[in-house]
Amino acid sequence: MTSLLVTNIGELVTWDDDRPVIRDAALVVEHGQVTWIGDRTAAPDADSVHDVGGAAVIPGFVDSHTHLVFAGDRAAEFEARMSGRPYEAGGIRTTVAATRAATDEQLAANVARHLALMRAQGTTTVEIKSGYGLTVRDEARSLAIARQATEETTFLGAHVVPDPSTGSGTEAEVGAYVELVIGAMLEACAPYARWIDVFCEEGAFGADEARTVLEAGMAAGLQARVHANQLGPGPGVQVAASVGAAAADHCTYLDDADVAALADSGVVAGLLPGVEFSTRSPYPDARRLIDAGVTVALATDCNPGSSYTSSMPFCIALAVREMGMTPLEALWSATRGGAFSLRRDDLGHLAVGAKADLVVLDAPSHVHLAYRPGVPLATVLAI
Ligand code: NIG
Ligand code: FE
Repeated sequence: MTSLLVTNIGELVTWDDDRPVIRDAALVVEHGQVTWIGDRTAAPDADSVHDVGGAAVIPGFVDSHTHLVFAGDRAAEFEARMSGRPYEAGGIRTTVAATRAATDEQLAANVARHLALMRAQGTTTVEIKSGYGLTVRDEARSLAIARQATEETTFLGAHVVPDPSTGSGTEAEVGAYVELVIGAMLEACAPYARWIDVFCEEGAFGADEARTVLEAGMAAGLQARVHANQLGPGPGVQVAASVGAAAADHCTYLDDADVAALADSGVVAGLLPGVEFSTRSPYPDARRLIDAGVTVALATDCNPGSSYTSSMPFCIALAVREMGMTPLEALWSATRGGAFSLRRDDLGHLAVGAKADLVVLDAPSHVHLAYRPGVPLATVLAI
């Protein structure tokens, strides 16, 4: 048995109930798990020792919402938005065309490239959705590729109606597409997915369709998560609460009943500030959610349309600066909050028994993540 003592930690963020943050700390890792945490001066002997020289150590970031299986980019759309054009859900179809035209190898290489960038910024767990294939074949291969990269894969066949004759699709086109999603597409995708998701929004899918998709996915053994209340007020959060979803993500436009539904149901609110940055939209009110007792996660939503960032530290900085979160709250949401969103008790913390996903900061405390935005401070400790 080999054990590693990580010591001389200026600030250790564990999220342990008794000692969530320990100064002048040490930690022991065995077989990839944390087996001891405490004061540096009380640390036990171990087979090897790693001295971090007074740096802060935090749990690896858990990015609970990304769309990494895609081809191409939409830089021109972003450029147009920065000249005043609004973001529209229909832009998704541009990426669908590029994704369908790409080979499996190209898609897998793109996923690998983004995962490497994420890891270089401290992310150790990533959820990946399909949703840019929107045919049985293209959704299934998207998820097979995602599954090579992570256990946390999500079937998002209900992203938008592909190839509509007009606007977001006639009622008949939407109905027929939902039938395909809950039929042949779900059957082909379920073996590669842990989660089922739906974009419940004006221009995408309404409350009834969203519920139909989620319930079919749950009947096939998947767990539910929802894209909710992103572009305007709507039923997404209420649908998420009514089916017992793990998460309602975006939550930008909420009324009091939505906030109460999140608090009462325990559905995690996933906030994705890269979206508001990249679409020049008002940020969600994290303070209001936290004060109401809602569990909040932070994630990148990395995708080529609404949020082309893979940086969790950037999202933390935005959440602190623009959304009323303290640096400690934002760090919690980017680690433990993400783990709650994925219903993973082994991730996002460094208490005894947790997975030893350690990130060393080139800084003495977690505050520097928001205080020094854009500076690459986080390094995953290779164990
Ligand atoms: O989470 N909201 C729906 N889907 C993505 C956007 C996808 C796109 O614009 O390509 C999101 O923001
Ligand atoms: Fe998304």
